Amino acid sequence: MKRRNLLSTVAAAALAAAPLGAMAQTAYPTKPITVIVPFAAGGPTDALARVLTARMGEALGQTMIVENVGGAGGTIGVNKAAKATPDGYTILFAHMGTLAVNIALYKSLPYDSQKDFEPIGLGGTNPMVLVTKKGLPAKDFKEFEAYVKANQKKAQYGMAGIGAASHLGGLMLNSMMKVDVLEIPYKGTGPALNDLVSGQFDYMVDQAVNVLPQIKAGTIKALGVSTLKRLPQLPDVPTIDESGIKGYEVTIWNGFFVAKGTPKDAIDKLNKALVTALGDEKVRARLIDQAVDLPEPKDATPEALRAQLKASIDKWVPTIKAAGVQPQ
Ligand code: MLT
Repeated sequence: MKRRNLLSTVAAAALAAAPLGAMAQTAYPTKPITVIVPFAAGGPTDALARVLTARMGEALGQTMIVENVGGAGGTIGVNKAAKATPDGYTILFAHMGTLAVNIALYKSLPYDSQKDFEPIGLGGTNPMVLVTKKGLPAKDFKEFEAYVKANQKKAQYGMAGIGAASHLGGLMLNSMMKVDVLEIPYKGTGPALNDLVSGQFDYMVDQAVNVLPQIKAGTIKALGVSTLKRLPQLPDVPTIDESGIKGYEVTIWNGFFVAKGTPKDAIDKLNKALVTALGDEKVRARLIDQAVDLPEPKDATPEALRAQLKASIDKWVPTIKAAGVQPQ
């Protein structure tokens, strides 16, 4: 056999013998990637996912398609992502409510957030805002508290299902105010916000990224923020803590995950794309303006998100139990 023919025969044999994982290393991604958002379109999780994945898709050279799978406080969508084929073509963008908080709120969950997923990286952390319908007879937090106390079992707060961020925000507030009010569940706080604007329930604690435009438009009222410091975007709105609910602090991190068993090469490439998106000045400016606390690109590692998930489980599961909330 001539030398050239011999070399190509050896190369073909080596290719045939290459393990699948090694071949995938050069190929992924070869088709669009589905991003499961476990809440309705138009809400905070959806908004953050769309901005980040548009830039991540550019970096990967593939479209990333957001699929909204709302319901049951995000558990339906998270479960779908946990059971997806672990090939890197279905990824999850979810927050700490769906992955940590709801461990304390459900008797059993169809997934284990620590065992069934591999983290890719943190996408951003959101402060929350207590917002009320425009017609609620309260011009500040003290009047709001008095109104809710005087109207127990009649006042209604909106939320995106058991274990949603808006559930945690409202649940902790109601528990610390020692009030019993009606919960109105939605598939996401995008649709809930529409109903708050039209006055169909009284209040909601939701992520700032979702409610800032309506607050600025004057269609709803902002009476408190969930952080211990005021937000630069709402300098006149006091913190709930400074208004008398001492120690009230709830912020919501969001992150990207894939089903356990996804090849490391796909995780690395997805992480690299996330790091690129987080380092993009236009992406940063847009999200920081909406009060999203973005990680520095170098900090958006899978290990940091794994640690964040564990820390949230360690913090919120005992806190919710101590508040006397019974799992469903
Ligand atoms: C939540 O309450 O968990 C979120 O606001 C859900 C959403 O993104 O709609």
